[in-house]
Amino acid sequence: MADNLRFDGRVVVVTGAGGGLGKSHSLFFGSRGASVVVNDLGGSHTGDGASSRAADLVVDEIRAAGGKAVANYDSVLDGDKIIDTAMKAFGRVDIVINNAGILKDVSFARMTDQQWDAIFSVHVHGAYKVTKAAWPIFRKQKFGRVINTTSAAGIYGNFGQANYSAAKLALVGFTRTLALEGKKDNIHSNVIAPIAASRMTETVLPPDMLASLKPEMVTPLVAYLCHEETTENGSLFEVGAGYVGKLRWERTGGHGFPIDQKLLPEQISEKWDKITDFEDGRATHPDSTAESMESIISNFENTSKADTGAARPKVIPEDG
Ligand code: NAI
Repeated sequence: MADNLRFDGRVVVVTGAGGGLGKSHSLFFGSRGASVVVNDLGGSHTGDGASSRAADLVVDEIRAAGGKAVANYDSVLDGDKIIDTAMKAFGRVDIVINNAGILKDVSFARMTDQQWDAIFSVHVHGAYKVTKAAWPIFRKQKFGRVINTTSAAGIYGNFGQANYSAAKLALVGFTRTLALEGKKDNIHSNVIAPIAASRMTETVLPPDMLASLKPEMVTPLVAYLCHEETTENGSLFEVGAGYVGKLRWERTGGHGFPIDQKLLPEQISEKWDKITDFEDGRATHPDSTAESMESIISNFENTSKADTGAARPKVIPEDG
C-alpha cells in the first residue's frame, strides 16, 4: 500500500515521547514529513526524577533518519512552554498528542491525597495545559488535531487504579467537549485507549503477551486521526496488537414512570428487569447530551392519565 498519508509542513507535539507509545508516535510522524517536538520530562514511571536523555535519544533517531525534531524537557504542567518550543523551532503547531502519563497504583483504601492528585495533575491538568496553549493557534489557522490518551482502566475500571481510572475517563469527557467546540474551526479531537508493551505495562503483563503488543501497532490509528483529510471527531477507540475498534455508549429503553405521582423505590424494583434490559430491542446509542435528554423530556407527557408506561426514544419503537 502506498504511504500517501503524509504530514509535510505539519508540526506535531508529542508529550511523554521519550519512550513507549510517545516515542513510536514521534518516530512515525518524523518519518512522514512532520516536524516533531519530542517532549519528555524523563522521570520514572511513577513520576519521580527528571532527565533530558529520553527525549534527546528520540530526537537523534528522527534526525538520523532524515527527519526534523527538537526536544523539550518541560513537564506537561508547563504546557505553554512546550508549545513555545514548537513555535520557536518551527513557527507553528498543528497536532497535539497528549500521551504523557505516570502511574501511582495502590488500592483505594491505602491511596493518599498525594497519589490521587499526582495522577490528576499529569494526565488531566497536563493535557489541559498543553491543549490550552495550542488552542488559540489552532483556531487562528483553522486547523488542529488533538489526540488524548485514555485507558481501558478508565472505561471499565481496574483494581488498584481508582486515581488513574478516574483521571483517564476525565480525558474522554474533555475530548468530547473539545470536539464540539473545535469543529467549526476544523479542530478535531479524538481519544484512544491503547494497549502496548512499555515500561508502564512490562511489570503487569506476561512476556509472551508483551511481545505481541508493539507500540507501533497503535501509532497508525493516531496518524490516521491526525491527518488533514480525516473528519473523525469526538470518538473513542480501543487499539492494540493490530486491533482497532470504536466505542460508543449504549442505554436501555428503560421505563418511564408517571411524572405526576410520587415515585417509590418499590416501583423501581418492580421494573428493574426492564430498566436494565439491553436485549429487548429498545436500547439506543445516545451520542450527545441532547439525544440523551430525549427520553427524559418525552416522559414529561407521561402523566397517570396518559400513562404511556415508557420514556420511549423517538427513533426506535418499543417493538424494536
Ligand atoms: P511510558 O512510561 O513509556 O511513557 C510515558 C512517558 O510520559 C514517559 O516517557 C514519561 O517520562 C513521560 N512523562 C511522565 N510525566 C510527564 C510529565 N509530567 N511531563 C512530560 N512527560 C512526562 O508509558 P506508555 O505505556 O508509553 O504510556 C503512554 C500513555 O499511554 C500514558 O498516558 C498511559 O497512561 C497510556 N496508556 C498506556 C497503556 C499501555 O498499555 N502501555 C494502556 C493504557 C493507557
